[in-house]
Amino acid sequence: MAFKHRTDIDLLPSYKQGKPAPKSNRHTYKISSNENPFEPLASVKAAIVDDALSHINRYPDMRGWGVVERLAKETGVAPENICLGCGSTEVITQLVQLLAGTGDEVVYPWRSFEAYPIIVATAGARSVQVPLTSDGHHDIEAMIAAITERTRLIIVNNPNNPTAVPVSDADARTLLDAVPDDVIVLFDEAYFQFNTDPNTAVAMELFQEYPNVVVAQTFSKAYGLAGLRIGYAVAPEDVIDGMRKVALPFGVSRVAQTAALASLDAYDELNDRVQVIISERERVLRALRSQGWTIPDAEANFFWIQFGEKTEEAEQYFIKAGLSTRVFAGEGIRFTVGEAAANDLVIQTCSKLKTVGLLV
Ligand SMILES: Cc1ncc(COP(=O)(O)O)c(C=O)c1O
Repeated sequence: MAFKHRTDIDLLPSYKQGKPAPKSNRHTYKISSNENPFEPLASVKAAIVDDALSHINRYPDMRGWGVVERLAKETGVAPENICLGCGSTEVITQLVQLLAGTGDEVVYPWRSFEAYPIIVATAGARSVQVPLTSDGHHDIEAMIAAITERTRLIIVNNPNNPTAVPVSDADARTLLDAVPDDVIVLFDEAYFQFNTDPNTAVAMELFQEYPNVVVAQTFSKAYGLAGLRIGYAVAPEDVIDGMRKVALPFGVSRVAQTAALASLDAYDELNDRVQVIISERERVLRALRSQGWTIPDAEANFFWIQFGEKTEEAEQYFIKAGLSTRVFAGEGIRFTVGEAAANDLVIQTCSKLKTVGLLV
């Protein structure tokens, strides 16, 4: 760029959006962004039309008080412990902006959610990326060893994107017990509702026990509102106050707030869909493992195959089959659990990959 600007931004990777479904005469599928494959609920659409659309000439309630109070009731915390953002991406951004500036460090597992390095570098802080263990778990001891005087935030991604591996309650407590009380630990639980691991950490429980826990959740995944951009954080009151100071003013639209409330009203119906996605995930994993694939524990609405150097070659087979996946060059492919037909295509394509020597 020829204009005077922050040259540290030049070093940032651009956030890569999941590719759209491949173009073809046949039906093709987008399983690249961990979206919910179900169409929006009729009740959610009706609430948007009935309530929100007629107010789009007005700014939304900046605090999102209706949603905040409702979430407070559901989660058993005070409304002062909750703030909203444009997806959980924004609440994570708010938190990093609040806590970490020039010279400060943010510790998180890697590979993990691609937005973390961008958010941290944009704040002027330094990422301390702690490699996952070879089976995709957070390396808790290494994360503890990475804490320094300059550490301002530690991020736990449970289950981790893109590996889908959960973090156990025991591991979370080992970490929390080792972290100084004045350093925040963020539990990014974007895929919380898909996590059926009986040993998993549950950040809302840890929030009640430790003074330095922040929880980030989203309406994008289980609630199927990815296109409306609404997520939230649960945090100590003074942290919420700080996060709100750095929030994008009026970032969460009334349309998003209305849809979130209607979705909370329709929780049972949405939860039925989550259960369908979980059982599809289990069906696909069973099929692939019986073909011989090595796949780490998957507790999200996606799973991970570590193709290593065969990644790009394998991707071509999925594109040919009509599937856009999320590819991490030289590392592996993340597959969103989508419609049953898309999942069938994943199973069939993996079977084909096996015959051409790409089984890992
Ligand atoms: C681990 C993780 N955290 C947070 C998010 C943010 O989602 P959103 O901003 O839509 O709430 C994502 C989205 O893919 C994610 O994978």
